[in-house]
Amino acid sequence: MDQLWGDRVIKLRAENAERGQLFDEGNYAMFIHWGLYSLLGNQVDGKTYYGIGEWIMNPRMAGIPIPQYKQLAGQFNPVNFDATEIATIAKDAGMKYIVITAKHHDGFAMYDSTACDFNIVDATPWKKDPMKELAVACREAGLGFGFYYSHNQDWTFPGGGNGPQTDENGNPATFDDYFQKKCLPQVKEITTQYGPIELVWFDTPGKMPKHYVEQLVDIVHKNQPRALVSGRAGHGLGDYQTLGDMEVPRHNIDGMWESVDTTNDSWAYAWYDEYWKSPQEILKRLIACVGRGGTYMLNIGPRGDGSVPERAIKTLKLSGDWIKRYPQVVYNTDASPWQHALPWGDVTRKDNTLFLCVFDWPAAGKLYLPNLNNKIQSAQLLHADGDGVLQWNTAGNWTVISLPPRAPEKLVSVIRVELDGEPRVDPIWAIDPNLDTEILAEFSSVDGAKQDEKRWMEKFGEWKQIIHVHGFESGGRASWEIDVHQPGDYNVSLTYAGTGRLVWKVSIQAGETIQNQQNSSHNYQTFPIGWINFPKPGRYKVSVQCIDGETESASLKAIEFQPIH
Ligand code: GLC
Repeated sequence: MDQLWGDRVIKLRAENAERGQLFDEGNYAMFIHWGLYSLLGNQVDGKTYYGIGEWIMNPRMAGIPIPQYKQLAGQFNPVNFDATEIATIAKDAGMKYIVITAKHHDGFAMYDSTACDFNIVDATPWKKDPMKELAVACREAGLGFGFYYSHNQDWTFPGGGNGPQTDENGNPATFDDYFQKKCLPQVKEITTQYGPIELVWFDTPGKMPKHYVEQLVDIVHKNQPRALVSGRAGHGLGDYQTLGDMEVPRHNIDGMWESVDTTNDSWAYAWYDEYWKSPQEILKRLIACVGRGGTYMLNIGPRGDGSVPERAIKTLKLSGDWIKRYPQVVYNTDASPWQHALPWGDVTRKDNTLFLCVFDWPAAGKLYLPNLNNKIQSAQLLHADGDGVLQWNTAGNWTVISLPPRAPEKLVSVIRVELDGEPRVDPIWAIDPNLDTEILAEFSSVDGAKQDEKRWMEKFGEWKQIIHVHGFESGGRASWEIDVHQPGDYNVSLTYAGTGRLVWKVSIQAGETIQNQQNSSHNYQTFPIGWINFPKPGRYKVSVQCIDGETESASLKAIEFQPIH
């Protein structure tokens, strides 16, 4: 299996592969934020700034004056940087390529640049080009390689986006000065000095005029005909869509796209941030991205000395070990025909084969597949000790697979299901008879209420994003059409935020109604509403209304059903 895995990686390198093939088929990549800011780890003069560390010099964080920030380069001596180790971490994690910060918004080039001497070779005691070493290490490991480049924002070069508006002599500097003297030459450098690269990841285009972006994209395409350009180049000139930071989508998205996420809650190294995602969390998020039809790029932030935090290495290795056991689930697979996660896990697909990834093993020994309109030809539990044949039966529009009592895998167990043809699934949400079923407000239709995106930062630069229902008018509601397999009583909870006491009503069309009031908070919390009865199997319309209290503050995120046995 290892051999086969290795072969695929080599085939997917830019010099051999079709343009974008790596991106399409690789599905999993390492993102690295590493720069002068890593030396500070979010602490300046003994004070910690909570936010994304690569923004530390920005007034929204510590607001470090340019001359003082530039002096940091004199202390930058990453003696523990080991390109081979980083490539090995990525490879062991099951990642297919690495994208690293060549230059972030701070303007410091982490490679040997003749265009600007504020770079790691000219300005630090280390004097080496780590990107040369990393490009070689990636090539040797069979990994792809690419650069992040902040094309618009440059906070230290005269004329750069959000940077100084005068040069060292106090003369006015324009964006064009920055673009001609630094940005354009540097993009030429990164696309010519490191062999074939897979990707140039431009970021935060802001109001950068289109003709500048066009020039950059042309250069990448000319120098690296097989490389992709990130969606954040701006003006729709990128080759694919990059979602919001740390955003893992909940419904399938068409076209070529990627999600960018981090192993903890920061991009660059932050001394306090040890909220490392567990191996299962990483796999869930990776499988969610692949299952929604995209690619997952997961970040690490090495320290200023070049070393990678040990817990990040460990969690990547453990999730990577799982991927090595089940490569067919992750690579070269497509989106789930259900178009969203299911109560027990998620699904990826290759042609007529489904890979059911079970995160929560149903204790009752039955896995419920709602509204699959195919005939199943076989169902197998994949496992290192030998694959187990599973039995199944159909009951109405549900398929029920019988499972052994215990999950064979601690992280994620996989069932391979062969279908008689292309999957035909009605993606309607369905209540699982065994497990809690959470259905997001994102999947509701609204009447007399608003449904839109809400984004916020937990700390500066740590983004959260949901689709919520709010603005409930009198009689306004969020409704879902829901399929019920097992008639009976279910506990109902709502996840919402708001201020003060809110009264909510949940009703089944032509059926029961329940209501409850709770003191809400500005954070999303899950509150029990009551229990409700679905008298027979079939489809129901369930509605939620916010009927009293400060209804204008009410923000609904999800409804949850829990079977009462
Ligand atoms: C944002 C931030 C940046 C980070 C990036 C990662 O655009 O400005 O600091 O590099 O997202 O996706």
